Amino acid sequence: MKVGIDAIQMYIPKVVLPIEKLAIARNIDAAKLSKGLGLEAMRLTDIDEDVVSMGTTAVHRLLQQENITLSKVDRLYVGTESSIDNSKPVASYILQNIVQLDGENKSIDCDAVDFTFACIGAVDALQNCLDYIRLNPTKKAIVVATDFAKYDLASTGEYTQGAGAFAVLVSADPKIMTIDQEVGVATRGVFDFFKPKQYIETTQNNVKVKLPVVKDEPVFDGQYSNECYINQISAAYEKFKTEKAAFNDATDWDLICMHLPYCFQGRRTFIEIFIKENLLLLENATGENYKEKLRSVVKSEAYQNFVQEKIAPSEYLSAKVGNCYTGSIFLGLISALVNSIQQANSVKTIGFIGYGSGSKSKAFQGNLVENWQENFDAQSIMENFEDLVEIDFETYEKLHKNQLSQALVNDKTFRIEKIEAENLVLVGARYYAYKEVDKKVASIV
Ligand code: HMG
Repeated sequence: MKVGIDAIQMYIPKVVLPIEKLAIARNIDAAKLSKGLGLEAMRLTDIDEDVVSMGTTAVHRLLQQENITLSKVDRLYVGTESSIDNSKPVASYILQNIVQLDGENKSIDCDAVDFTFACIGAVDALQNCLDYIRLNPTKKAIVVATDFAKYDLASTGEYTQGAGAFAVLVSADPKIMTIDQEVGVATRGVFDFFKPKQYIETTQNNVKVKLPVVKDEPVFDGQYSNECYINQISAAYEKFKTEKAAFNDATDWDLICMHLPYCFQGRRTFIEIFIKENLLLLENATGENYKEKLRSVVKSEAYQNFVQEKIAPSEYLSAKVGNCYTGSIFLGLISALVNSIQQANSVKTIGFIGYGSGSKSKAFQGNLVENWQENFDAQSIMENFEDLVEIDFETYEKLHKNQLSQALVNDKTFRIEKIEAENLVLVGARYYAYKEVDKKVASIV
């Protein structure tokens, strides 16, 4: 039984800050961000967007593209680490938005739940749905990855921010890609990046109280998170090799899609695996000596060719969007597939290496089906990628601090209409509306 990705769609917000503007404002060497980390721009959620609105738009686009309704789908599984609620899943919001748009207001026969494990939650949802379809080949599932990466102002994560949502239809005999059953997993409980419940002290009626707060911005240690990423992806990849007997080395993969927290993370970290597989043992080098020798291997023609052929295709959209957390690996997949069509490359196998802080990595393999290009509507998927609203740095800071009172974009998407503040039994409930207007409200450059 072959199962995998039958169709895919995405929604990327239109508000954009070019990375050069951030570099100038923060007095960072622009070349470090563009040439060192591969960054061009970051996409930001507008004031009336969240993971529900983005996720709903991605699902709506997928259903329209495939000409099906949600009632034909048995599972709606969401991966997110930017949830709006500790109890009610984002999946239930998305389901309701779609059902209401179809003019219905009743229960439907569709299982819905969220998966959270930092950036790898949607890969977990995907694997869960693949197993479900293996057992129930006549069923269909939708996996949604929806997130925004928001870091503290002036932190080292600030230039890696981004946002986006992806909807993936999973079925038997898929039209785009089958996914093999073997998975290499590596998990270790660490504090490289997390969003803990914290407490702020305040006074209420002359009594000191501690109020719990959950911030969108993570607590993180950038260089340590890189170390954890390298350790887990290497361990998961090694495990994958033992799980899949027919797999030799990375040359078996035509393309490699990794979790990309920023554009060049894949190429900067896969070098460790490349060295091992090519027996470039760096002569037991340690410390600074190791770093120097590693750099020379990175610059070598062999590694640069490897990167250009296998990793770069998944990077092109990441450079323009930034980190979409759970969605980044799907953005990488879309980037690689669009590139493959544009370049008329013959791609058959894709190696996936997901990563989520905290931390876990999973390595697995996808195989593009014959004539997949006929079923991957690159034009429709990329439709909303252009026509952006570029903002200046001052507007960006206000948006970050939640100081804007008017949306920057009007678009054909779902948007937050209201967050209940008065009715005590509904406080915090979010309501969404589908906006048909398709024009910019503001173009602030
Ligand atoms: P950093 O300090 O910005 O950059 O940290 P760096 O010093 O590590 O590297 C800069 C690169 O630019 C170097 O390249 C420099 O040489 C180069 P290298 O040689 O080392 O490959 N450079 C230049 N190149 C050309 N021209 C120049 C120039 N100047 C310097 N003039 C870091 C990077 C990722 C740590 C930082 O951005 C950060 O803290 N980000 C947030 C956390 C993060 O993204 N961690 C990644 C791993 S964890 C993960 O992926 C999970 C995550 O997505 C969350 C989740 O799972 O939920 C984050």
